[in-house]
Amino acid sequence: MPRETQVLAVASVVLYFALRFMAAPILAAPAARAYSDHVNPQWVRLLDLLQMNVVYERCSGTELFTSNGRRILDFLSGYCVHNAGHNHPAIVAALKKELDRCGPAMLQSHVPQLAGELAQRLCALAGGRLRRAFFTNSGSEGVEAAIKFARAYTGREGMLYAKGAFHGLTCGALSLMNDRHWRDSFGELLPGTHGIEFGDLEALEAALKTRRFAAFLAEPVQSEGGVRVPGATYLLGAQHLCRRYGTLFAVDEVQTGMFRTGPFLAAHHFGLDPDMVVLAKALSGGLVPIGALLMTKAISDSVFNSLKRAFVHASTFGENGLAMRAGLATLDVLEDERLGWNATRMGEVLRTKLREALADLELVEEVRGIGMLNGIAFRAPDQLRLRIPYEAFRRVHPAMFGQVLVMRLFRDFNILTQVCGNSFQVLKAAPPLSITEPEIDEFVLAVRQVVETAHHPGEFWSEALGMARRAMMRDNDSGTPHEREGRL
Ligand SMILES: Cc1ncc(COP(=O)(O)O)c(C=O)c1O
Repeated sequence: MPRETQVLAVASVVLYFALRFMAAPILAAPAARAYSDHVNPQWVRLLDLLQMNVVYERCSGTELFTSNGRRILDFLSGYCVHNAGHNHPAIVAALKKELDRCGPAMLQSHVPQLAGELAQRLCALAGGRLRRAFFTNSGSEGVEAAIKFARAYTGREGMLYAKGAFHGLTCGALSLMNDRHWRDSFGELLPGTHGIEFGDLEALEAALKTRRFAAFLAEPVQSEGGVRVPGATYLLGAQHLCRRYGTLFAVDEVQTGMFRTGPFLAAHHFGLDPDMVVLAKALSGGLVPIGALLMTKAISDSVFNSLKRAFVHASTFGENGLAMRAGLATLDVLEDERLGWNATRMGEVLRTKLREALADLELVEEVRGIGMLNGIAFRAPDQLRLRIPYEAFRRVHPAMFGQVLVMRLFRDFNILTQVCGNSFQVLKAAPPLSITEPEIDEFVLAVRQVVETAHHPGEFWSEALGMARRAMMRDNDSGTPHEREGRL
């Protein structure tokens, strides 16, 4: 074994045992007691651990204000929900007006006019052959709908997806994600699903040739997968191959849609003409649950093909008036304020400034992104004095390094962000699309300072050690009930 590897192995073992014996309790903040007791205690403990368990009193545009007077700049946007900014006054006003008019809601026995209006606008913006919408309450439900509509249209059962994807956590959507973290302990999922490498057209063609697959679902840019922007020709090639083998080409634009990357859909960057598009998150201005599956007329007609089947796929809250009104008002805001244009312009500014500011830091691999969907990717440093703590902590928990960055940005610089859900070495930079240059400067300065501290082993890594100790304590009493019994 090379000497360096030996040193790293010893360091991780020493660190592991040090943490086990030094594990310290986490004190839950009293304000979160009811949530902790009756909803999810581990979530509260995680926020405590990250020192992010604050009480937000008011949120507006790109800013979040806490009960103890802090002003936090949002560079996460609830994972691309707040494209129009928090509580945009025009969307809030539209919702109040909708409530005040006391119109029909959830009758399940009328034609919801607003749903027609929103569908028409979404299809016009999406373009191509997309003529119909099916409304849902979330992105996962949109993916579920895509699976059902694709099966009905093609008469095939299989579904293809790209590895590294995040499509949602309901059983069907989860079947289209390979990451074990999300799947473990939930048993068998949907049969007939198959993951291929993102960007690999040969693997895609080999799978398509079997003619078992109803659809290939892909995010145009893998967001939780580490903000992976594909080469210019990959998606067009994938669409072409899907057509050749009779498989539908579907894009998940739950994060990338609604002008996040500049144009209305990221598919527009790549000149795509998909058969289906899943939207959600930012579609209702971050105020009302919503999702939509856009598709061709033929696909929609394959499900709703007779009176008997007029509501064979439906959801009680799917076309509710508040969500539809919020969707229409959100489109007005995004278009009137030209937020897609701002996302393109400010995205360039953000990436340029970040690249300049981080150029000399060896832990930074690259800054990448498109529009206002950006990531800072980190890598193992070359210098042994940095490599040892970096690798040792990564072996204790792969997210540790990123979470210390997230914690420090939040605690010391009032910046909210997170690492990617399927790629912990990538820090996200995805603020509301109304972000301004001075706010970008604030973010860049904070990131520079925090990442720089990681290059001076003492302080940064002792903080990581403290966090690891508390995390260890948390993990000791977590796990499935079955596993906990085993430990006792
Ligand atoms: C790309 C993508 N698709 C689907 C989903 C699932 O959306 P939801 O959480 O609304 O069910 C998410 C959620 O983060 C997502 O990022």
